[in-house]
Amino acid sequence: MESIRSERRGPVAVWTLDRPKALNAIDKALLEALLVRCEEVASDADVRAVVLTGEGRAFAAGADIAAMREFGPAEAQAFSRLGHRAFAALEQLPQPTIAAVNGFALGGGCELACACDWVYASSKARFGQPEVNLGLIPGFGGVSRLARRIGLAWVKELVLTGEPIKAEDAQRIGLANRIFEPDALVEAAVKAGEAVAGKGPLAVSTAKRVLQEGEGADPSTAAALEQAAFGLVFASEDRTEGLDAFLAKRDPKFRGR
Ligand code: CAA
Repeated sequence: MESIRSERRGPVAVWTLDRPKALNAIDKALLEALLVRCEEVASDADVRAVVLTGEGRAFAAGADIAAMREFGPAEAQAFSRLGHRAFAALEQLPQPTIAAVNGFALGGGCELACACDWVYASSKARFGQPEVNLGLIPGFGGVSRLARRIGLAWVKELVLTGEPIKAEDAQRIGLANRIFEPDALVEAAVKAGEAVAGKGPLAVSTAKRVLQEGEGADPSTAAALEQAAFGLVFASEDRTEGLDAFLAKRDPKFRGR
């Protein structure tokens, strides 16, 4: 748990990767801390969005190279499996998650950013998949997420050359939604989280689920999922409140039910 600090900013949980001396390299303890943080927040209805950032000059410089040096194939596979599990838990949180990429997001760090719903980048951020420089390949399931985000050709260039890209290029190819000055980054992400928190929580979590599950499904299954979910939100008090408030020209008071 020490590897990821958590603080509350009203309805927004801000998680900070906290191994700055190792540029927030991702080891087993950090992945286990991520699983615990996800479990805490998944059942906490007061948390309406999560911001993930890094302490110091990195978001995360990838999987912990010193720890991996000692791995045999079985340990490496188990480490990869743990990474897949932790990043899937993050991806599947009912709340929106925003990666506030403050510096290096390399290897597993870039994969971690891609497990968040969207990415805000500091103008100093650097993204990349440099595993081939080490004789390795990416291992936390992030490249398929990255491919869905930026397309296979860009992923191939990043993974096969191992060369990093700057924030502006990350924004241009759709990896980062927006770029902020370093001092304004986390504040901007918290503000986006607060904007989400003002909306109907059931609508937000249902929309997230439909987007996520619909993306991997064939078009007719995705359409059926959306139609069913659209019907389901009509069972909520929030939709009555939302529509009534609009028609009465007042602000809605959503209660998450
Ligand atoms: N693992 C462990 N320690 C790391 C690390 C990592 N991924 N990245 C940086 N560090 C450590 C360095 O060893 C160094 O420690 P010491 O001060 O004890 O020597 C400290 O963090 C600072 O790093 P540098 O001195 O290298 O800082 P720099 O500014 O010169 O360079 C950098 C920064 C370009 C990010 C460079 O550190 C670097 O290339 N890091 C490795 C990036 C990388 O290859 N990531 C992929 C890892 S493999 C992976 O992630 C696989 C997967 O998908 C599961």
